[in-house]
Amino acid sequence: MSIQSAAANHHPSQENSKAVAMLPDLERTSWEQLRAAAEQKDDQPEASGFKTMTVATCTSRGADARMVVLRRVDIDHKYVWFYSDARAEKVLQLEAFPQASLLFWDSNRHVQLRLTVETRLHTDDYVADDHWEKLGVAGRKAYLSEQKPGTEQPHPYPGVPDHLVNNLPSIEESEAGRKNFAVIECRVLAMEYLQLSRQGHTRACFQYEPESKMSWLAP
Ligand SMILES: Cc1cc2nc3c(=O)[nH]c(=O)nc-3n(C[C@H](O)[C@H](O)[C@H](O)COP(=O)(O)O)c2cc1C
Repeated sequence: MSIQSAAANHHPSQENSKAVAMLPDLERTSWEQLRAAAEQKDDQPEASGFKTMTVATCTSRGADARMVVLRRVDIDHKYVWFYSDARAEKVLQLEAFPQASLLFWDSNRHVQLRLTVETRLHTDDYVADDHWEKLGVAGRKAYLSEQKPGTEQPHPYPGVPDHLVNNLPSIEESEAGRKNFAVIECRVLAMEYLQLSRQGHTRACFQYEPESKMSWLAP
């Protein structure tokens, strides 16, 4: 029986200690699925739903949200990373309000993960340099926009110089994107797991800060 369905089938008469013992497995599996998604290449056919996520931020005018790609996961230290144009609205929002919520949905496993995070921005430092060095020219192309993201344009603007619309930049050309590249490091304070099932949903919370704690929740 899978961890997920075992939890979903949990019967009230079962010993409580058995259910509690399964929590660490569920937590480990969820993190491993996140890491596998981050390491997945774009051209792999069976894309995990965890490869992209919604990042919800706070602003002085309320809430905001958008999709991003999950780039790296550190299971041992409970960190995840994503990238953005340093001039983008989300980066300005995170500068003012570092707290964010990362929302994942894997439609194959029927699992939602909700991560409560504290973010740290990296632009002109060795962390950003390290991620930039490992990014191929196709990834770097996204940072070559001459126009600040979100600014009004007189006509549809593809976000790259005209000659690169149907081409990849050379490595040398791609370096122009480095100044626009931001790495958003997310320290995970808590992870909430929800699996939907006709037999009954499974919901659990894994808290890392201020103290470590894991518990089942009513769905
Ligand atoms: C599937 C998908 C993946 C995306 N990945 C990223 C990403 O990794 N980084 C990013 O900055 N924007 C990404 N975007 C674009 C953002 O959702 C958003 O439209 C853009 O970054 C502007 O957001 P902002 O104004 O809140 O900064 C992605 C959009 C989609 C639909």
